[in-house]
This record gives sequence, structure tokens and C-alpha cells, in this order.
Amino acid sequence: MSAPTRGVFVTGTDTGVGKTVVTCALIAGLRARGVGAAGMKPIETGVGADGPLDALALRAAAGDADPLDEVCPQQFALPAAPTVAAKAEGRRVDLAAIDAAHARLLARHDWLAVEGAGGMLVPAAEGLTMVDLADRLGLPLLLVARARLGTINHTRLSLEVARTRGKRVIGVVISHADGVVSPADAANLEALRDDAGFRVMGEIPPLDRIGPSISDHLDIDGIFAASSAS
Ligand SMILES: Nc1ncnc2c1ncn2[C@@H]1O[C@H](COP(=O)(O)OP(=O)(O)O)[C@@H](O)[C@H]1O
Ligand SMILES: [Mg+2]
Repeated sequence: MSAPTRGVFVTGTDTGVGKTVVTCALIAGLRARGVGAAGMKPIETGVGADGPLDALALRAAAGDADPLDEVCPQQFALPAAPTVAAKAEGRRVDLAAIDAAHARLLARHDWLAVEGAGGMLVPAAEGLTMVDLADRLGLPLLLVARARLGTINHTRLSLEVARTRGKRVIGVVISHADGVVSPADAANLEALRDDAGFRVMGEIPPLDRIGPSISDHLDIDGIFAASSAS
């Protein structure tokens, strides 16, 4: 059984779909409503001299107060899946370190938005996928999906994986991370929105077409309420 949830695990249909943008907007939107929300990126790969960029963005969205090694307890240089990046350094992903950092963050904050790496079946640690990690942390899923061609298949595959594992998905956020969509992609998107199998919790237009408040394009209250429901 999962622990009571105080947050969501933000996953995506792929890497580069807009998970970090959505997670930051979620944290900012909740904080603007007075919820003590913060972010966590348990495992970040592709970490260079500038540090873990996703984790730094999440930490900044929450006011920059948290120690970076709590926001991101497992960092690896190779831009690859966590188990692969860890092996390249002769290491293994340390789940105990993730559990400890998660507990410390939860002790200080009311609610956590935890960003996965890649999609749901990415190997997070030996014998553990990203969706298993979400389960270990006791969090329901928020799925970020691309607006572009291929998204119906990728979204349904992800939802199917969640269903077969009994993981609760609180909804899907459609992300226009690839810019303005073609008429064909727009028609596809319409079909995806009409899919009765999930709730659309927001749609982030191309960032150069909207103002600074990305949170306005998310159903912040709906996500918060659904994350608290059992
Ligand atoms: N709605 C959007 N419009 C334009 N660019 C976006 C949008 N969402 C994300 N991006 C850009 O796409 C890239 C990938 O987004 P990111 O949030 O880092 O994805 P992920 O966390 O899933 O890898 C980043 O450069 C980001 O700024
Ligand atoms: Mg990211």
C-alpha cells in the first residue's frame, strides 16, 4: 500500500516533452495560492558543470531555499537512463538516498511535485522503473504529453502501463513544447482531448505565445484536489 499522498509524480510520454516547465508552473501556481509546495528531481542525468538544471529550476520555483542534494539526491554525468548513467560511473542508483531526501523535503513542505526522468518505463534503478519509483514515493501520476504527431499512441501507451500496474493517473497535461502545431496535429489533438479515458489538467501553449504566468494554463486547483483524493 502506498503512503498518503502529499504531491504528484510528474511523468511524461517521453523526454523533452515539457515536464520541467509543467512542474515549475505547478509549484509556482500552488505557492501563489498559499500551499507550501516544493519540487524534487530524485534522479538527474546529463549533469554537467552547471549542475542539475532541472533540479535547479524546480528549486528556484519553490524559492531557492532547499539544499540541492535534497532536491536532487542522485546526479550522474552521462545523459542516459539512470541505471545506464550510474553504471558509466561505476555506481548504482541509491534508493535509500532518494527515500531520505524525500522524507526531509516532506518534513519541511506541505506538498511535493516530483519530476521523473524520461518516461514511465525508464529504468530508475536495478529492477525498478520510473513508475515503480512513483509508487515507492506514494505519489499519483500527472502525465505530460506532447501536442505533436505520435502523441495519441504515446499517451495511450503510458496510460495503459499505469492501468496495468494499478497506478492512479490524476490527469494529462498537453504541452506545446515543439511550437505551433500543424492543422493535422491540431486534429489529432482534438481526438486526444476527446478520449474519455483521462482528464485534461491543462494545456501549455508555445511559451513565446503566452505571458510569464505559465501556471494560468494549468488546472492548479484540480491537480491539487485530485492529488489529495485517495
Ligand atoms: N509549451 C512550451 N512551449 C515552448 N517550449 C517549451 C514548452 N514546454 C517546454 N518547452 C521547452 O522544451 C524543452 C524541453 O522542456 P522540458 O520542460 O525541459 O522537458 P522535460 O522536462 O520533459 O525533458 C525546454 O527547452 C523547454 O523550455
Ligand atoms: Mg525535465
